[in-house]
Amino acid sequence: MKILVINGSPNGERSSTMHVTRAFVEGMGETFDIIDSLRADVKPCLGCFSCWMKTPGKCVQNDDMAQILERLLDSDLVILSTPLYCYSVPSSLKAIYDRLIPLGTQEQIEDGEGGTYHPGRQAINTKIMLICGCGFPNRENNIEAMDFQFDRMFSKDCPRIYTLEAPLLNTPEAKPLADNYLGYARKAGAEYKANGIISPETQALLDAPMLPPELYRQRANGS
Ligand SMILES: Cc1cc2nc3c(=O)[nH]c(=O)nc-3n(C[C@H](O)[C@H](O)[C@H](O)COP(=O)(O)O)c2cc1C
Repeated sequence: MKILVINGSPNGERSSTMHVTRAFVEGMGETFDIIDSLRADVKPCLGCFSCWMKTPGKCVQNDDMAQILERLLDSDLVILSTPLYCYSVPSSLKAIYDRLIPLGTQEQIEDGEGGTYHPGRQAINTKIMLICGCGFPNRENNIEAMDFQFDRMFSKDCPRIYTLEAPLLNTPEAKPLADNYLGYARKAGAEYKANGIISPETQALLDAPMLPPELYRQRANGS
């Protein structure tokens, strides 16, 4: 299975999100290729719509995005592995989101729920999922914008893991909690490989904070 990880974290090997991503793929019994969005040369979208009007499917900019699109389409599974930044994706990943528009067309379709979308230019068989590390202990009033954007950009059916209190995965005193959590991520990977979904039981374990929120905030505040 060809798995491509698009990493939005600037933290390299120490990325708390990447700890979860590695455990998930390990649970699948697979390996992955990686693109670091911060190191990739992906310029902001120029908004010229040439990729729709003049050169359908091709951007006028000559940077790494053409190759990223090729690798994305050539993968069985793309995992977006990213920290939550200001309730959304980091800017390097937002540039990649914006530069996906050559895959769509200018046509506007009503989605049956009052929304509008641009249909794809071609059938895409690549599956996509999200693994997102969050520094806060709460999902509510935190992940909604990221989740909405991911739903609209890809599909409501794509699996996703939001790791609350993700910095604990890099905190030596929290190792037992981290080991437990990474065990759940491995289990999720095995379930996803076997059934194409994460079971509700494992999802609930992954969605829960590792420490009670009040205690986590006290620790984070150094008290
Ligand atoms: C610029 C910036 C903005 C952030 N915004 C949020 C946020 O809105 N919500 C949240 O839960 N954590 C936020 N965080 C915390 C990170 O999501 C958290 O530290 C995460 O574990 C980092 O993941 P990484 O180690 O994979 O880079 C922010 C961190 C930075 C640097």
